[in-house]
Amino acid sequence: MQNFQFFNPTKIIFGKGQIASLPNEIPKGSRVLVTFGGGSIKKNGVYTQVMNALQGYEVSEFGGIEPNPTYETLMLAVDIVKAEGIDFLLAVGGGSVIDGTKFIAAAAVYEGEPWEILTRHGAGIREALPFGSVLTLPATGSEMNMGSVVTRQATKDKLAFLHPAVFPRFSILDPETTYTLPPRQIGNGIVDAFTHIMEQYMTVRTGTDVQDRLSEGLLLSLIHEGPKALKDPQNYEARATLMWAATLALNGLIGAGVPQDWATHMVGHEITALHGLDHAQTLAIVLPAMLTVRLKEKSPKLVQYAERVWGITSGTDEEKALASIQKTREFFESVGVKTHLSDYNLSPDSIPGLLKQLQRHQMISLGENQSVTLEVSQRVLEASI
Ligand code: NZQ
Ligand code: ZN
Repeated sequence: MQNFQFFNPTKIIFGKGQIASLPNEIPKGSRVLVTFGGGSIKKNGVYTQVMNALQGYEVSEFGGIEPNPTYETLMLAVDIVKAEGIDFLLAVGGGSVIDGTKFIAAAAVYEGEPWEILTRHGAGIREALPFGSVLTLPATGSEMNMGSVVTRQATKDKLAFLHPAVFPRFSILDPETTYTLPPRQIGNGIVDAFTHIMEQYMTVRTGTDVQDRLSEGLLLSLIHEGPKALKDPQNYEARATLMWAATLALNGLIGAGVPQDWATHMVGHEITALHGLDHAQTLAIVLPAMLTVRLKEKSPKLVQYAERVWGITSGTDEEKALASIQKTREFFESVGVKTHLSDYNLSPDSIPGLLKQLQRHQMISLGENQSVTLEVSQRVLEASI
């Protein structure tokens, strides 16, 4: 096990009706900016619950944060924060709204050109405005981590930053807020959380039994409960399990002390940046191909995954590893997320452009042992057609 420090200051408030507890979490007298997306919260009653809970605060709002939030839109909110003297932000929505709010929180007090936050991946951040979140889409884990991904539309750069100052102060997770999610977003959430676990688990076999078994438990929960959440949108227990699993998938716990991969995410980000696919769609395309191309280096862990997660106990190691990749692909397809570039009308002609983006962003030695060169990414993309 590698040396590690584990720190996570985000308070989680989980369960039905918990939006009403907002006044316990936001300091009295705060000037609050409520941030949200394209309007789902106005249709499903979440907006009303939030506004009722915030009576007594001075509240402004900023809607229109798009999926894969853009720098261009978020900078409009930064202007409002500065003009109105906002001192607390409340993100209400999915990962895009929470990520966008992390950027707003950091950019509002950043000395220098805010885009630098992304190009330096957070290194220049000294502080950020405090913020909380009300999560409505289980997927990214953004509600309990210090990461954010922002796209600059003008240049098609989709970049991530990390900084402890952008951990949410609190996140409210009420599974009932997810009842109105369309099946596509539930499927996306399952695939995103699944892939987050795989990026931290599917590396090499080392002495990390606790992390491995936590990861395998979360994968099994997604495999068992995810389809129930899809089939029966009002199954509270399935929605609750999905929500908590997605949070635990990327709050630092299972990643502490283990080698991490993240090559699938980096390649996937370029597909979204150039072609606009949903984040999870890109992961469903890249992950099975990534595991296939890197079968040899990942073989011992793939065999463990095959046996413990999918119950595949017969065959050679190679057969087990291949069967586990096939099971992964079938699972993604079963929750409605297609796994080939061609399913999204992308042909092999798209590959050179994606490689160029990876090169431009210095994504040329990815993975737990930096083995994913551009040449390997090319083979992965070719295998994902
Ligand atoms: O915008 P509104 O109208 O709210 O609609 C949203 C949006 O269209 C809708 N939605 C959300 N909650 C709903 C709902 N519709 C009905 N009922 C509800 N309860 O869902 C759509 C997608 O929302 P979005 O926030 O974009 O999805 P997601 O949570 O999957 O976030 C994706 C973004 O997170 C980034 C991705 O790159 C992408 O930009 N990621 C962030 C990470 C992090 N911060 O740690 C890690 C991830 O790997 C990922 O990269
Ligand atoms: Zn992700």
